[in-house]
Amino acid sequence: MSLTGKTALVTGGSRGIGRAICHRVSALGAHVYINYVSNPAAAEETKKMIQDAGGRADIICFNVADGEQVQEALKQIVTEAGSLDVLVNNAGITRDGLLARMKESDWDLVIDTNLKGAFLCAKAASRSMMKNKWGRIVNITSVIGFSGNAGQINYAAAKAGLVGLTKSMAREFASRNITVNGVAPGYIVTDMTSSLSEEIQEKIKREIPLAALGTPEDVAGAVAYLLGHDARYVTGQVLHVNGGMYM
Ligand SMILES: NC(=O)c1ccc[n+]([C@@H]2O[C@H](COP(=O)([O-])OP(=O)(O)OC[C@H]3O[C@@H](n4cnc5c(N)ncnc54)[C@H](OP(=O)(O)O)[C@@H]3O)[C@@H](O)[C@H]2O)c1
Repeated sequence: MSLTGKTALVTGGSRGIGRAICHRVSALGAHVYINYVSNPAAAEETKKMIQDAGGRADIICFNVADGEQVQEALKQIVTEAGSLDVLVNNAGITRDGLLARMKESDWDLVIDTNLKGAFLCAKAASRSMMKNKWGRIVNITSVIGFSGNAGQINYAAAKAGLVGLTKSMAREFASRNITVNGVAPGYIVTDMTSSLSEEIQEKIKREIPLAALGTPEDVAGAVAYLLGHDARYVTGQVLHVNGGMYM
C-alpha cells in the first residue's frame, strides 16, 4: 500500500466523487481527513464506511473558499496527524446560467469555491509537504474546463483555471518531490448531475463514445493512480476520465 503512514485530505470528501476518492485513498493505506461544509450526515456515513473497511478516517468541516478556515483546519490536521502528505482538491459547486443573466454573486461563488479553494488548500498544505520533501496533490477539474459549455461560464473558467494552477504548481514544487496533477471527469453520476432530466442525460450519452455516464469509482481510480508509486514520475498532467466525449 503506497500511502501507508501518510495523511490525506480530500476536500468535499463526504459525497459523490469525493467519497469514492476517500475510499481509494484509504485502501492505499492513508489516514484520511474527510472535508465537507454543510452536510455532516454524509461525512459521518463516509467515515463509517471507511472504518468498517478497516481504514482510518476523521472528519473536518470547513469552507474551502475561506482562507482563515482553511489555515485553521490544515493546522489542526498537521497538529493531530503529524503531517499532511496528500491533498485532493475535489470540493466543487455549480451555479449555472447564461452569461447575460448570470449574477455576479454566482460568478464569485463558483470561482471562489472551485478555483480559489484549491489555491488556498494547496498553499496551506504545501508547508508540511515542503518540509517533508514529499507530497502529492491532485486537482479535480472537469471536461467543461476544456470543451466549454453554454450556461456554465463560471464553472468552465474555474475548471480551466485549475489546469493552469496544476501546471504552475507542478513546476514550483517538483524540486521538493511534490507532484501536482489533475483529473478531468466527464459526466459522472452524482448529486451534481442528478438534477439533469432524462432527456438531457440521453442526449449526453449520445455524445459519449462509450455510451454511458461514468461512476465516482471511475474517477477515484484515476486519482489513486496519480497518488500511487506507479505515477512517481508523472507531474503537471491532467488525466481525462470521460468515456471519450472529449479527446
Ligand atoms: N459529477 C460530475 O459529473 C462532475 C464532472 C466533472 C467534474 N466534477 C467535479 O468533481 C468534484 C466533485 O463533484 P461531485 O459531483 O461529487 O459533487 P457533489 O456530489 O455535489 O459533492 C460536492 C462535495 O463538495 C463539498 N463542498 C461544496 N462546497 C464546499 C465548500 N465551499 N467547502 C468545502 N466543501 C464543499 C460538498 O460538501 P457538503 O455536502 O457539505 O455541501 C460535497 O462533499 C467537483 O469539483 C466537480 O466540479 C464533477
